[in-house]
Amino acid sequence: MAHEQGKDAQMRLGVCYYPEHWPRDLWDDDARRMADAGITRVRIGEFAWSRLEPQPGQFDWQWLDDAIAVLARHGHGIILGTPTATPPKWLVDRMPDMLACDRGGAARRFGSRRHYCFSHEGYRHECARITMAMAQRYGHNPAIAAWQTDNEYGCHDTVLSYSDAAREAFCIWLAARYGTVAALNAAWGNVFWSMEYASFDEVDLPNLTVTEANPAHWLAFRRFSSDQVLSFDRIQTDILRELSPGRDVVHNAMGFFTDYDHYALGQQLDALGWDSYPLGFLEMFPFSAADKLAYARQGQPDIAAFHHDLYRGCARNGRWWVLEQQPGPVNWARHNPAPLPGMVRLWTLEAMAHGAELTSYFRWRQAPFAQEQMHAGLLRPDSAPAPALAEVAQVSADIARLGPAGQGAARVAIVFAYLSEWVTQTQPQGEGASALWAAFNCYRAARKLGLNVDIIRPGAPLDAYGLVILPCQPIVEDNFARQLQGFTGQIIIGPRSGSKTDEFWIPDNLAPGPLQSVFSGVVTASESLRPGLVHQGQGWDIGLWLDHLDTQAAAELVADDGTAACYRAENIRYLAAWPKPALIAEVMKRAARDAGLDVVRMPKGMRMRQSGNYRFVFNYSTAAQPLPDAISGELVIGDRLVAPGGVAVLAAG
Ligand code: GAL
Repeated sequence: MAHEQGKDAQMRLGVCYYPEHWPRDLWDDDARRMADAGITRVRIGEFAWSRLEPQPGQFDWQWLDDAIAVLARHGHGIILGTPTATPPKWLVDRMPDMLACDRGGAARRFGSRRHYCFSHEGYRHECARITMAMAQRYGHNPAIAAWQTDNEYGCHDTVLSYSDAAREAFCIWLAARYGTVAALNAAWGNVFWSMEYASFDEVDLPNLTVTEANPAHWLAFRRFSSDQVLSFDRIQTDILRELSPGRDVVHNAMGFFTDYDHYALGQQLDALGWDSYPLGFLEMFPFSAADKLAYARQGQPDIAAFHHDLYRGCARNGRWWVLEQQPGPVNWARHNPAPLPGMVRLWTLEAMAHGAELTSYFRWRQAPFAQEQMHAGLLRPDSAPAPALAEVAQVSADIARLGPAGQGAARVAIVFAYLSEWVTQTQPQGEGASALWAAFNCYRAARKLGLNVDIIRPGAPLDAYGLVILPCQPIVEDNFARQLQGFTGQIIIGPRSGSKTDEFWIPDNLAPGPLQSVFSGVVTASESLRPGLVHQGQGWDIGLWLDHLDTQAAAELVADDGTAACYRAENIRYLAAWPKPALIAEVMKRAARDAGLDVVRMPKGMRMRQSGNYRFVFNYSTAAQPLPDAISGELVIGDRLVAPGGVAVLAAG
């Protein structure tokens, strides 16, 4: 059953299920009802360590054997999770120093989940042991379609740990990176404030300093912490590959989360998954109050799509899954409204449009107990259908009708590096000036023009694109600058790009550093602007961040007071001001025109994605809206008047 999925196959539906939460006499009926709704994949096991190994070394496999057998009898392929996000009490008691420590240095306690430090060797050994035991038992079971390693690395702020184990591992990592402590001192500029070290084991973690630690110290710690996640994952991935050949090994990433390098994780997995909670994310992340209200029941229309495109770009061979899809109110945001009727179907079809191989709902039945009792499932706690169940059945019929979506092609690439976000988090300089959100703003602007977008790492091939955007990339490698020099399409370089060396210095030739070979100009000064301190332009303004340039390039967009927001020289634009929505919309429009791209001005709240075989149009607004005239083609699903929360699918070409 493994590997029959592929980029060109029809998207599957799945569900997250916890047989250990329910009496056995419900299992068979659950499995049947899942199949009736069109579900063919069931994810289980990822939090079940205390039931799999109730006492050290004493395993209880029977219940899991039975659960897998029941699910398999109804045709489900299993995505089996390793339970390493929830080490049981006996294990924590045996090695209490496995707990991660928070920034204040306090050990995080048992009693929820993710209570471990990625660097703890003893815990790594335990993870290898339980993974091996599971893989030995189920590795060749024909019902096992895939494995999920752990669950949401980094959730609840767990990548950065300030434990003794982390410090020890950090010192070893530093020695490998720098070779000599003199090289480390020189690289970080430790002469400043007499911060020089005489040996690697003198270097502490960068928390608990009196005022800010050296940004180079922080950046090294961020790189180290990301590497620890990758090597932690590799332990399990290697075991699963060896003991369960032919099965996909996946992990579930999160939304707006950057604490480890997802490109690197994606390369060591077969497919990269992510967990899509559009309403929770809208509430918890810095969207405008107007957007939070207008899209309270739909999610801002770029949230899910941005992550679909980001994780497709991170995944090996572009293979990606939605491992958890919000089915109703969640329990963890500030406010937790129910989705507008139709949204669960819309989100599912949108994942399909962007190339997902699987959309799996979290969770099957709402749990009446413990932390997530207010989180909806496809069933209510009393097993009656929750509103999403009917939408799942409907979308499963839609998918059957459509068949494979085919792969979409994008002419626009947004370059995003996790390193960029680590730099802007370490040294924001202006509150809210985040590389991730700069990328999101650029993405939104491109999507409002109806464009397909790829999100790529620096150094990825550029041949397919007519427009390449670096929203905010402080560290630029020489090789990437050379690659851009040879690129003949349109380029937008965002503020702060090329403003730091690999060790967090201002480059000798000043910003944009290596990009001066692409754009001839020098940033002579940068400033950040508090809310309200703006330079007004024509329908846009300069705010948040402003680079002042010395350049021969023509100022293309100039505020009323003469301040330049954007310069242009041939195919290159240097955006000197922060890509706030209205400004980047204007710049994107011009760059898309110069790149000769076919744009469609999408009505407010409507978005489009072209897959290989279809044009999908999504109405995220609360009013019915007609398809723009420019969108033609035979309707396969929906009408030209698209209902609120509705979808229209047209045959491509
Ligand atoms: C995810 C997590 C799930 C569940 C879900 C609730 O972050 O992976 O286990 O907690 O959130 O929305």
